[in-house]
Amino acid sequence: MKERTLSIIKPDCVAAGNSGKVIDILESNGFSIVAMKKIHMTKKQAEGFYIVHKERPFYDSLTTFMSEGPVVVMVLEKENAIKDYRELMGATNPKDAKDGTIRALFATDIERNAVHGSDSKESADFEIGYFFNALEMV
Ligand code: CMP
Repeated sequence: MKERTLSIIKPDCVAAGNSGKVIDILESNGFSIVAMKKIHMTKKQAEGFYIVHKERPFYDSLTTFMSEGPVVVMVLEKENAIKDYRELMGATNPKDAKDGTIRALFATDIERNAVHGSDSKESADFEIGYFFNALEMV
């Protein structure tokens, strides 16, 4: 069954001029882009998005990073989109990311790690709804 997941090309990756390369990798791997926009989040908006990490020591630094510049937010669709996109992204820490994954190619470190992807169906529902309404998805 087709599934949807949320992808963010993070400020480090956008600033480095790598958004197009990431989109090319996504489409080459069978993901359809059903919604996409470029936005610059406020710190408050980044805090709301990452609310599940509120108690983590990296929450303040992460939300400052995510609001430092524009991001590209997308809804991706594919069979098993959530799991397959996480595999294509690679491990959170690029040091552990397999060769050829998006993070191995474009991430700098565990925080500035180029892309985000939903980690479960529940997260995907929350995260897609955080940025898009039904009329914005094709
Ligand atoms: P992401 O997949 O977007 O989910 C949460 C983000 O927090 C993660 O990618 C990283 O950007 C960041 N993150 C996770 N673990 C750490 C950590 N130990 N130190 C700093 N940032 C982290």
